[in-house]
Amino acid sequence: MKTLLVTGGAGFIGSNFIKMLLENEQWRIVNLDALTYAGNLETLQDIDDPRYVFVKGDIRDRETVESVFATYDVTRVIHFAAESHVDRSIVEPDVFLTTNVLGTQVLLDAAKRHWNLRPDDKHSRDYSEGVKFVHVSTDEVYGTLGPDGLFTETTPLAPNSPYSASKASSDLIVRAYHETYGLPVNITRCSNNYGPYQFPEKLIPLMIQRAERGETLPVYGDGQQIRDWLHVKDHCVAIWTVAERGRDGDVYNIGGNNEQANVTIVRLILELLGKDDSQITFVTDRPGHDRRYAIDNTKITTELGWRPAYTFDQGLRETVDWYVTHPDWIDHIVSGDYAHYYDKMYAKG
Ligand code: NAD
Ligand code: DAU
Repeated sequence: MKTLLVTGGAGFIGSNFIKMLLENEQWRIVNLDALTYAGNLETLQDIDDPRYVFVKGDIRDRETVESVFATYDVTRVIHFAAESHVDRSIVEPDVFLTTNVLGTQVLLDAAKRHWNLRPDDKHSRDYSEGVKFVHVSTDEVYGTLGPDGLFTETTPLAPNSPYSASKASSDLIVRAYHETYGLPVNITRCSNNYGPYQFPEKLIPLMIQRAERGETLPVYGDGQQIRDWLHVKDHCVAIWTVAERGRDGDVYNIGGNNEQANVTIVRLILELLGKDDSQITFVTDRPGHDRRYAIDNTKITTELGWRPAYTFDQGLRETVDWYVTHPDWIDHIVSGDYAHYYDKMYAKG
């Protein structure tokens, strides 16, 4: 059986991805995750499958990464692991650079060494059949849009936050490993995801949780910033489609043509919870706040035949319902209990 390395599989998108793949494909999956504040093993506790292996480790640690490649004979990587929250990057940029940029380079090096047929020859561009490194990036690398236009794969990179700058840097090092060493790679750039198991620091789960508790709902600035929302399961299918059929070295934008203003989303959540707008509070804007993101998905839809399955109406309804019916998952995060899960489950002795 072939082995897939998923990095950051205890996070929001990675965990949804692992569950999807175990259901639909015959791969062994090694989940390498450092379990930062954003990694939560409770999300994966219902997996009971010998094809799934969890390794606690940091992508910046060469020894760990090398050992994972050697031990499990990894032939494909889906690289999710990252610091992912823009607001945190404004306060604490350093870890965004070390994890998102340097961590990515450590993984690329290991992939190159294990997959190249003559690893000691700097001119060798021959790799084992079928290997692939998929780098999961973001539409934020393109910066911000005015009222019109869409991000295409050739839109110049113009990141505005330390988070998006670190992701753009990682995209460039992935590209360089393809151009210089011929490493088979793809880069995906997706718009905002929503769905189950998202850490409640991000807009949608934060607002659901605070609305339910009767707390204020902090909308940044005028709330008219636009994001292009996609259900996480649609994103996961798109990533696997690229992994299977993407052209080596290519970038694929992923998005579902679903632009919404932030305050509209907050109002929709309140409506679904049967509440009025009185909890909404407009607060000081995020520094460097990008005004609008919108993805042109022509390439992935026409070349690879991917299309989103969820409508926003159905996806948001199901998502609100999921958070309402999984109060323990949220409560453990808020209380910090989730962070002790690893010690409880994996403690020796
Ligand atoms: P997340 O913050 O929920 O999860 C990140 C995971 O990476 C966590 O499990 C964390 O423990 C792990 N991690 C962090 N640093 C690590 C390190 N040094 N070594 C090993 N593991 C580490 O993030 P997410 O929302 O699931 O995003 C996953 C990826 O998708 C990121 O690369 C992000 O840039 C990208 N992305 C996210 C969105 C979105 O809307 N959430 C959209 C487009 C792209
Ligand atoms: O576009 C893809 C990106 O989407 C991913 O690369 C990032 O990892 C992911 O975090 C997300 O970034 P955003 O900054 O767009 O997501 P966030 O949920 O933090 O915010 C969405 C919008 O809502 C943004 O315009 C800021 C606003 N916002 C957010 C929070 C947390 C508020 O108005 N109030 C809030 O409290």
